Amino acid sequence: MKQIIIQGGNLLEGTIRISGAKNSAVALVPASLLSDELVKLDNIPNISDIDALNEILTFLGAKVSRKGELMEIDSSAVENKSIPESISKKLRASYYFMGALLGKYKKVEMYFPGGCSIGARPINLHLKGFEALGAKVIGEGSKYTIIADELKGGHIYLDTVSVGATINIMLAAVKATGITIIDNAAKEPEIVNVATFLNQMGAKISGAGTSQIRITGVEKLGSCYMEVIPDRIEAGTYVIAGALMGKNLKIENIIPEHIEALLTKLREMGVSLDTYDDYLTISKSDNLKPVDITTQVYPGFATDLQQPITALLTTCNGVSTLEETIYENRFQNVEYLNKLGANITIDGQKIIIDGPSKLVGKKVVATDLRAGACLILSGLTAQGETIIEEVEHILRGYENIIEKLEAVGAKIKLEEI
Ligand code: UD1
Repeated sequence: MKQIIIQGGNLLEGTIRISGAKNSAVALVPASLLSDELVKLDNIPNISDIDALNEILTFLGAKVSRKGELMEIDSSAVENKSIPESISKKLRASYYFMGALLGKYKKVEMYFPGGCSIGARPINLHLKGFEALGAKVIGEGSKYTIIADELKGGHIYLDTVSVGATINIMLAAVKATGITIIDNAAKEPEIVNVATFLNQMGAKISGAGTSQIRITGVEKLGSCYMEVIPDRIEAGTYVIAGALMGKNLKIENIIPEHIEALLTKLREMGVSLDTYDDYLTISKSDNLKPVDITTQVYPGFATDLQQPITALLTTCNGVSTLEETIYENRFQNVEYLNKLGANITIDGQKIIIDGPSKLVGKKVVATDLRAGACLILSGLTAQGETIIEEVEHILRGYENIIEKLEAVGAKIKLEEI
């Protein structure tokens, strides 16, 4: 077990460099199985979610090497075996092995994925997509066997816009015969990153980044080199840190357009920030105005930044509201923010934040990845010492978060307990 200890109240000054996007990387790594040749992935973040995917790749017989941010995957000797539950439940993105193995071998056996418990998170749309391509899904408890004699292009309408289902169906469809159309597809930048990657390997995908994606099946996928895009959620988290405690803090290696909804809200609050091509600078401002935020699919306000921005809303002068429309259980940070001294009430899928509150460090728990990020942000502002337990959740998704914050002046450390 690990815990993070923060001494709050220190200004953040200097530069934070954003790593490769977790949610792209966790799809690109399983997707590389679809290639018959060597795949090179660059800008891969050093997070434990990637370690878990490597464990699955290695279990299947792929040769994986990692040198810094570069990862090389050779899947030529892969054997299509049932993936044990003990590994698949380590993370949500293990479900991308469903699409990748089905797409390549027409069969996959694995268990329901893990990940943060922020809602029911069913995978019915993924399965509906596989069935539309001609596969049969056999579910026994949490185990799924998905099998097809032949995968044929199909027309799929996603009843709910889903990042995971959009990517998984693309993976299963790239080698199917004929044309697959995904309607009401998710438009997140990570989807464009994965489609570009597959196209570099020889796939024929158009429309990624719009609500209709068209995939023309190909027989073979070859080698390629691909860079993971910068992590917009990590970027957003540090931008919020800058709004809380920054002194001309520079956040570099970002694509500002990917966090436009966040930047718009920050400007509305009165935060002082300047954006450039691939970086921005941000400083702490006093007397921030309260705002109303509703989470939406991209390009709306990201649900993954909902918990982090709550840390900032507790400092605003007046009542802010935050409505969560994607997940049913993404307010577990509220109990702990209130323990630190915030004044937040939960009203169904909405929270009401009455600020400003003076936070004082206490012992809190990172119930999930982004709740943990929120507590770190509040710990940076709180008076005295904040101890965050169960931080394994945070380490799954933020590369070197302790080192990055320490380097710009935070008093933060990770302890084994
Ligand atoms: C991905 C991200 C996660 C982010 C989320 C929304 C990864 C590994 N995770 O999660 O960080 O918070 O997108 O931006 O990329 N749904 C169904 N049936 C399905 C699939 C989804 O009902 O088969 C629902 C979900 O319960 C949720 C909504 O659709 O309410 C969106 O989920 P989805 O976009 O699929 O999220 P994930 O891919 O799990």
